[in-house]
Amino acid sequence: MGKKLMHAVQYDSYGGGPAGLKHVEVPLPTPSKDEVLIKVEAAGLNPFDWKVQKRMLWPLFPCKFPYIPGTDIVGEVMEVGQGVRKFKPGDKVVAFVNPFSGGGLAEFAVAKESITASRPSESSASECAGLPVAGLTALQALTKSIGIKLDGSGERKNILVTAASGGVGHYAVQLAKLGNTHVTATCGARNIELVKSLGADEVIDYKTPDGAALKSPSGKKYDAVIHCVVGFPWSTFEPNLTMNGKVVDISPSSASMLTFALKKLTFSKKQLVPLLLIPKGEDLQYLIDLVKEGKLKTVVDSKYPLTKAEDAWAKSIDGHATGKIIIEF
Ligand SMILES: NC(=O)c1ccc[n+]([C@@H]2O[C@H](COP(=O)([O-])OP(=O)(O)OC[C@H]3O[C@@H](n4cnc5c(N)ncnc54)[C@H](OP(=O)(O)O)[C@@H]3O)[C@@H](O)[C@H]2O)c1
Repeated sequence: MGKKLMHAVQYDSYGGGPAGLKHVEVPLPTPSKDEVLIKVEAAGLNPFDWKVQKRMLWPLFPCKFPYIPGTDIVGEVMEVGQGVRKFKPGDKVVAFVNPFSGGGLAEFAVAKESITASRPSESSASECAGLPVAGLTALQALTKSIGIKLDGSGERKNILVTAASGGVGHYAVQLAKLGNTHVTATCGARNIELVKSLGADEVIDYKTPDGAALKSPSGKKYDAVIHCVVGFPWSTFEPNLTMNGKVVDISPSSASMLTFALKKLTFSKKQLVPLLLIPKGEDLQYLIDLVKEGKLKTVVDSKYPLTKAEDAWAKSIDGHATGKIIIEF
């Protein structure tokens, strides 16, 4: 008897954008020893997904075709590998799917136990589907790269979050405010009130001269910047940083890698630090618990059914989402 089939969205080659996505019926994946098989209820999209398709992240993230994109999933455990201890069939979970094998935009997906976390029944699938990549990146930038303590202890720091209306930025503002921080944020005019409601102390419209110059309205210098926009030369950050100011660049370009190296070689106190997410299950559980406690929320830009995944893909490529784009199954 043949293997059971499921609906999935995949592509067969680099490029092609939304039109390159194909709806197919493929066999269900089989969990290996340390994996869980999840019936997917919702998936969150990230710029990472279409950047892989555009070959922008090659050779760091090569694709084996046909490739099913999607890393952020929420669903129910159907089956567990022999070595899995923490989960059992029927458990509701949030997981990060290994981007090298892919698989999130499908009715069933496998994820490592180590990067799967429990989802409480009071949190909806769509609010948790945004957490894995965007939430964990914001958390890693704040706690590991900058050293903010989210229990509010630690010395006060002035933080700038750019693109605070985006997936990473909107989590970064909320998480930063759990620490002892003053948060300045940039976003478009239409999102200023939203970003203030997330906790930002001051917000700048990025299309104004002060916004383009990243200047704090109150004249504050930044101890750290969580930079969620692609580009910006070092000369824009430099005059806005404190003596030991640090820019965490989550979309590092070759120019920013050069700046990173130069700052290191010249023992500069002001630094630019590239960030690549290293997802961890315990960090994901921490974020889910914050959602449950009402301390972190996901702003949902839009929801699409899996049958309209290409529309969600186009929306993400467009670069103007407010919060997260979610695909529901
Ligand atoms: N290094 C890593 O591991 C890692 C992890 C996650 C994400 N990333 C990268 O981080 C970047 C951000 O990801 P994301 O998911 O947050 O993206 P996103 O959700 O697509 O960001 C969209 C938001 O950015 C705003 N925006 C665009 N240009 C802006 C500007 N110049 N100033 C202020 N806001 C601006 C848009 O506002 P308007 O609509 O008003 O224009 C929109 O709300 C992407 O390049 C992504 O690939 C890297």
